[in-house]
Amino acid sequence: MEFSTTAKNASRGMLVLTIAFMVLSFVQCASKHLVTSPATAGINADKGLKDYYKDYFPVGVAVSMASLHGPDSALIVKEFNSVTPENDMKMGPIHPSENVYNWKNADAIVDFAVSHHIKIRGHNLCWHNQEAAWMFKGPNGEPVTKELLLQRLKDHIFAVAGRYKGKIYAWDVVNEAVDDSEDTTQVYRKSNWYKICNGPDFIDSAFKYAHEADPIAKLYYNDYNSERPAKREKIYKLLKKLIADHTPIDGVGMQAHWKLNDPSPDELRKALDEVTSLGLKVQFTEMDITIRLPKPNPAAGTTAAPAGATPTPDPGFTPEVEAKQVAQYKMAFDIIRQYKQYITNVTFWNVSDRSSWLDVRGGGPMGGAAAGVNTPRVVIKAYPLLFDENRQRKKAYWSVVNF
Ligand code: XIL
Repeated sequence: MEFSTTAKNASRGMLVLTIAFMVLSFVQCASKHLVTSPATAGINADKGLKDYYKDYFPVGVAVSMASLHGPDSALIVKEFNSVTPENDMKMGPIHPSENVYNWKNADAIVDFAVSHHIKIRGHNLCWHNQEAAWMFKGPNGEPVTKELLLQRLKDHIFAVAGRYKGKIYAWDVVNEAVDDSEDTTQVYRKSNWYKICNGPDFIDSAFKYAHEADPIAKLYYNDYNSERPAKREKIYKLLKKLIADHTPIDGVGMQAHWKLNDPSPDELRKALDEVTSLGLKVQFTEMDITIRLPKPNPAAGTTAAPAGATPTPDPGFTPEVEAKQVAQYKMAFDIIRQYKQYITNVTFWNVSDRSSWLDVRGGGPMGGAAAGVNTPRVVIKAYPLLFDENRQRKKAYWSVVNF
């Protein structure tokens, strides 16, 4: 008797505790929702970016091996329906010497995406950075001839695009081949590719090889600062030439490494109008909006800070900066949605502000190359993405899904 009363009391106590816990969890959850999202009809915290944009375009993210497990992978699967390998398909990493291909990481990313029904953009087949140095040397260490270089480019593209045929739906075939200066007569970057080929025809060749290797994949020319007037004009010249030459190109990747006030709405519209007037599609391939301003040029008569000097402290993600970033993201997505018939993907470059390729590291054992082991670790962060350092949705997130 006594035992059963005690048991009853204990179970009643458990029930009260359980109900109290449930009420508390609900209140916590509701208040969290109110804190991170505006109380607007249509906003639903259970949806991801891909769901808000399901009638527009796939929304993607750049990934590395580290993103395939743990909290990043859960976030990726919830929010995105496209991925781009951040580094693992670039020529240097994937094809470090003539007969060596490193497929491991690229295969792992492709398998991850396929198993989660996520689309894959390939990045990239021909670039002047992270290149395979061996390609530019002839059999006896002499500079390679144009013929051999193009043959190697062809072999490379056949191997890589061929391996992922049917799995990669769009390729950045040529990356950043346009010159950065304000001189609009200088259309092409004077890269090893350009110099050895004595002109830009490696660009057309790369597209032809990619089309032969995978006739179904959509083929893109990819570049940054594509909204700025001089660069825009040069990219336009390149595109017109490719089209006149019957190059199999489907569209332009605008990288969208943007700043708080760059591009202006007018520049963004002009860039989109120009490219789409040529019958090409557009993908925003590497979007991020850094809060950092460009480094000022050192004043006349002074010298730049020596390499390895302690960087200026991180100014932090202040409310002022946050408001500007929210406004820039909102402006960009308002325009991007208006062009939805031409836009076939928007991809962010990295998952969250926890780690962006734009963060500058200095000091400490994990810091900059020139820093001593005992220097305190300093990180100047760019805070450029829609998820914060704890992978929570930022106000900028809500500004792009609230439409
Ligand atoms: C960057 C990666 O994010 C870094 O991890 C790497 O160290 C350098 O390359 N334009 C491009 C991308 O097309 O491939 C670059 O990615 C960023 C600029």
